[in-house]
Amino acid sequence: MSNNIESILTESRVFEPSEMIKSQAGINKEILDAMYEKADKDHIGFWADLAREKLSWSKPFTQALDDSKAPLYRWFSDGELNVSYNCIDRHLENKSDKLAIIFEGDQGDVHHYTYQELHDEVARFANALTAQGITKGDRVIIYMPMIPQAVFAMQACARIGAIHSIVFGGFSAEALRDRVENAGAKMVITTDGGLRGGKSVPLKASVDEALEKGCDTVKNVIVYQRTKQDVNMKEGRDIWWHEAEAGMSNYHDPVMVNADHPLFLLYTSGSTGTPKGIQHGSGGYLLNAMLTNEWMFDLKDSDVFWCTADVGWITGHSYVAYGPLAMGQTILMFEGVPTYPDAGRFWQICQDHGVTVFYTAPTAIRALMKFGKEVPEKYDLSKLRILGTVGEPINPEAWMWYHDVIGRGECPIIDTWWQTETGAHMIAPFPGVTPLKPGSCTRPLPGIDAVVVDEEGNEIGNNSGGYLVVRKPWPSMLQTVWGDDQRYIDTYYAKFNNKYYVVGDSAHKDEDGYIWILGRIDDVLNVSGHRLGTMEIESALVAHPKVAEAAVVGKPHDVKGESVFAFVVLNQDLPEGAERDAMVTELRNWVAKEIGPIAKPDDIRFGTNLPKTRSGKIMRRLLRTLAKGEEITQDTSTLEDPGILKQFQQK
Ligand code: WT7
Repeated sequence: MSNNIESILTESRVFEPSEMIKSQAGINKEILDAMYEKADKDHIGFWADLAREKLSWSKPFTQALDDSKAPLYRWFSDGELNVSYNCIDRHLENKSDKLAIIFEGDQGDVHHYTYQELHDEVARFANALTAQGITKGDRVIIYMPMIPQAVFAMQACARIGAIHSIVFGGFSAEALRDRVENAGAKMVITTDGGLRGGKSVPLKASVDEALEKGCDTVKNVIVYQRTKQDVNMKEGRDIWWHEAEAGMSNYHDPVMVNADHPLFLLYTSGSTGTPKGIQHGSGGYLLNAMLTNEWMFDLKDSDVFWCTADVGWITGHSYVAYGPLAMGQTILMFEGVPTYPDAGRFWQICQDHGVTVFYTAPTAIRALMKFGKEVPEKYDLSKLRILGTVGEPINPEAWMWYHDVIGRGECPIIDTWWQTETGAHMIAPFPGVTPLKPGSCTRPLPGIDAVVVDEEGNEIGNNSGGYLVVRKPWPSMLQTVWGDDQRYIDTYYAKFNNKYYVVGDSAHKDEDGYIWILGRIDDVLNVSGHRLGTMEIESALVAHPKVAEAAVVGKPHDVKGESVFAFVVLNQDLPEGAERDAMVTELRNWVAKEIGPIAKPDDIRFGTNLPKTRSGKIMRRLLRTLAKGEEITQDTSTLEDPGILKQFQQK
């Protein structure tokens, strides 16, 4: 999507905020300018004042930033609070009857929860967790579909100080096992199954498979009954959610924790084969999650906010389970997929539940665009006032469609750049203030010192490109990689002498200082807004008994952004004809089993060796050219065996 940045920049248009959004937005230019000024003058004081103002503390902090172990920064450490109290209890006085969650299931079933009902659900489940022996600091894996109970489980963990780690329901049993083991989890919370697009996903069966080997730390599995499909319940280990909750009180006194107590781990891919557990704290994380819901989405009491992300990703943490609830707003949760029963599902939901602020990924927009504007035109989308996007650079064509067809040309497109590691938005426009350029995430937020630097770490001028870095710590930054401080430092800080957080994206700064994300600088792919490490997929492939070597690259894809393209060397002769097709299917299914269906290669090519230089380095640039099916213009004279290129060109 990002290859044609030159032409995007020359054609780029500027969209000023519409009168509609200017008249509604809570933050105008004056307020925003004052925020920038304050943050520039007193970076730490800026965040400290917001933390005091926005969060409810049981004990105030005395020091905002502890940098004594930099780059292992800690925010508001000696202050005490409870995240669940901040998301729920503090709204009960004025908003107990306000809707917290509107849920629509895959099959169209609808359920509403007020803040009081949310409180009662979370308190009961917190009591159930405590009764099962879960206490502060224990790790709990949540492997559930997109249903309110997933949020109840997250909030209940937060309430007792347990550290949750959600594993996306699309990950395989193998991937789940790795994460259970790395986290040393004491419990897994799951459902019998999940429903997506009319099909049921056997989650409990995957948990059983994952726990078959190793995972000795897991004492119990709590199973919420969602599909009523048959499952095995292991005596002494597995408990039904409703039985665990039976007789539990709706009252639970939240456990106050230090602001730097870990709230959750979320595993994400990097440039090595093993995913890393990104560790987030409590107070700092919640502050930015909450603030960016206010800043970017201008959430008000009358809004119905729908972020389509699954709770298995960071977006589902900050913009479903925590941020909007901390603001006391109404969120919508949807269990299913955008194209079931047809491609009007998203728009039907927006219409039926009066969604006002909608946040999704470019891949979803591109997929729905293909069905034509006739589909959304069947629905009343007039309540929409802000549209957000996240996950990858949005191509101007999708931006325009989103803006004109879904947003009637009136709703600002809030392109939010951030990462699992950053916890919350970092670079994004303010809806009523920032002029927009399709494809640019615009400017860093106040208090976020994100800049583009050259190889030496010096900030570059306009009209040039380089590495995106963040020079000063910010409250919702990752605390570390779970159990591996060294990996945290090496991955994110080493490049510029431990001074700057290195994002891993390259970026261009245009003539107005607007930032355009170009893509990853490491071996990470972005497939439908999901992050996948090429090494991770390569490790999965070589774990297959018939595979000797594998190299994976990304290939530009018009809906997914990027697709997985694998070059494989087998331990046997080159397969031909039907045998080749069977091998392709076998390896695709193998990757789905090892990691999950999202990592399945779209293309697999076979050769007798990978293209390597004489020193043995895999020529990845060449592989990317091959994947695109383009003419090879690179110098191949250093190739050990040029004949293999022909093999890899064969479909
Ligand atoms: C990577 C982070 C943040 C939640 C979803 C993905 C890419 C993310 C944008 C955007 C251009 C973006 C970056 C980033 N990315 N948002 N608005 N414009 N690129 O979280 O899995 O941690 O991936 O996604 O490459 O580094 P993640």
